[in-house]
Amino acid sequence: MELVILDSAEDIAQRAADVVEDLLRTKPDAVLGTATGSSPLPLYDELVRRYEAGRISFKDVTGFMLDEYVGLPADHPERYSAFMETHLRSRIDMAPGALHGPDALSDDLEAACRDYEAQMARAGYCDLQILGIGTDGHIGFNEPGGALDSVTHVGVLAEQTRRDNARFFDGDLDAVPTHCLTQGLSTIMRARRLLLIATGENKAQAVAHLVDGEVSAQWPATVMQNHPDALVLVDPQAASLL
Ligand code: GLP
Repeated sequence: MELVILDSAEDIAQRAADVVEDLLRTKPDAVLGTATGSSPLPLYDELVRRYEAGRISFKDVTGFMLDEYVGLPADHPERYSAFMETHLRSRIDMAPGALHGPDALSDDLEAACRDYEAQMARAGYCDLQILGIGTDGHIGFNEPGGALDSVTHVGVLAEQTRRDNARFFDGDLDAVPTHCLTQGLSTIMRARRLLLIATGENKAQAVAHLVDGEVSAQWPATVMQNHPDALVLVDPQAASLL
């Protein structure tokens, strides 16, 4: 696992966008794994700028989202499918329908998870998976205490995660869903390359475990230590406990 400490979120966005651009130059029909949360937003803005400048195209790219809330109505703006549509898909030339997510509106969530894993398998899994990290060390929505070899599954959100994400629901903890669908840790690990972005002091403890801790389900992101090609980009605040 390679760790790079950069001065600012903007520098991280540039470096991360270079990784995506290099991939799309060598493989225009790449399979890209996308993450939600605030951490990748500067990267998405930079990808849009490079698309607008004619440097990259996503027209043949297939995307797979990491996770989705369960229990939000189809038109809710905080659904991760809406988030990705707003912040990335609608701003680039990725085909409508080319960015997939687990179907959290399904009547049969277990079947929706199986279908999503099978869909990713058919696509050959991701060439590059973009990741953020939760303050409790989750990636996707793989919360502490789960299985290190999990595939796409229904998950229960940790109290800490619900508190962290209440800011997207007008600070109303009761409005934050309790369940989610998420790629499992082994699904994520099947990506040929992992790119994790962490910024800010509130990520420092999770980053310290990610980099220096033992691989453990208590800090799910630590599985990345076992990946042959993982890049971790952090700012000085997120690196402050290293
Ligand atoms: C959510 C997502 C994660 C993301 C995390 C961090 O919980 N499921 O994929 O990494 O948020 O969010 P932020 O980048 O806003 O701190």
